[in-house]
Amino acid sequence: MKIVKNLFLVSLLILFAMPLYGAKRLTLYCSPQIEWCELMVNEFEKRTGIRVKMTRKSSGETLAQIKAERTNPKGDVWWGGTGDPHLQAAEEGLTQAYTSPKMSELHDWAKAPHSATGGKTVGIYMGALGYGYNTDIFAKRGLPEPKCWHDLLHSAYRDEIQVANPNTSGTSYTTLATLVQLLGEEGGFSFLKNMHKNINQYTKSGSAPIKSAARGENAIGIVFIHDAVTQTVKGMPIKAVAPCEGTGYEIGSMSIIKGARNLDSAKKWVDFALTADVQSLAVKARAYQVPSNKGATVPPEAPDVSSIKLIDYDHGKYGSKAERTRLLAKWDREVKVLPR
Ligand code: G6P
Repeated sequence: MKIVKNLFLVSLLILFAMPLYGAKRLTLYCSPQIEWCELMVNEFEKRTGIRVKMTRKSSGETLAQIKAERTNPKGDVWWGGTGDPHLQAAEEGLTQAYTSPKMSELHDWAKAPHSATGGKTVGIYMGALGYGYNTDIFAKRGLPEPKCWHDLLHSAYRDEIQVANPNTSGTSYTTLATLVQLLGEEGGFSFLKNMHKNINQYTKSGSAPIKSAARGENAIGIVFIHDAVTQTVKGMPIKAVAPCEGTGYEIGSMSIIKGARNLDSAKKWVDFALTADVQSLAVKARAYQVPSNKGATVPPEAPDVSSIKLIDYDHGKYGSKAERTRLLAKWDREVKVLPR
């Protein structure tokens, strides 16, 4: 009787465990806005039947996590976030090469990180850096309207600006690298030190500063221009600014993690995420980055990047381990610690 009972329990166990073993899975580390991550996951599951476990973390945080897990990788794909830390991950051997059949459909700027890293990362979107401000707060307090980077140093904005911490956030690292490229290293750091007294908080995530500006918690948020547009489209009193001196940009990227346990699913995700009609879905999540597939629809609300003065951002240099690590350590030493 006991044997029969045990046999019954064992078969029950096998029956329940089977679908778990049989089912295809994917563990996704996602760095763009959560709404877009969720939309992509749902669409992928619907199209492929592969079950996705997703976590959203900022770009710098995700790089740190993949590094910490390097001897026992838990993630399969890192989708989105600024390209610089993806380039660093490639350099450090944390990601692996894959060439999707979709490559020929991409803009040249999206193919560039792929060829620079021997296929370890690829561009999925592009976005220009800038900032946004709350027009209600500005009107109420009679604040001067900013148009340039240098306007952000105005004493009228004391405690009114928010930007993320460049260690965790790719948006904020892009800001740091942009200012260094625009003003020279000394000029860039002196700008950041001067702006420090106007900063009320260094947030973890890159888009948080414009969300809190939309809620009226601070007047200005330094973010990608498309993140400011998202708030405007939502009906918030946010005006986006492309700084007059010129500005940097991101090549939002995607990489397969080295040692991915679900490599087949990971490749399927990459092909899926580079597909024109999938990229065109971003608008449903109010994500207004420029898509990397030439056939994808660019929503009318998306910032017209061709009308923005873009600097010749050196992704190779600022996405290298040596430069990124050096600049972040310098920011920690010279900017973050200053009294306000
Ligand atoms: C937002 C932007 C993305 C960007 C991402 C980086 O979600 O819309 O274009 O890639 O920020 O996030 P992070 O939190 O690392 O700054």
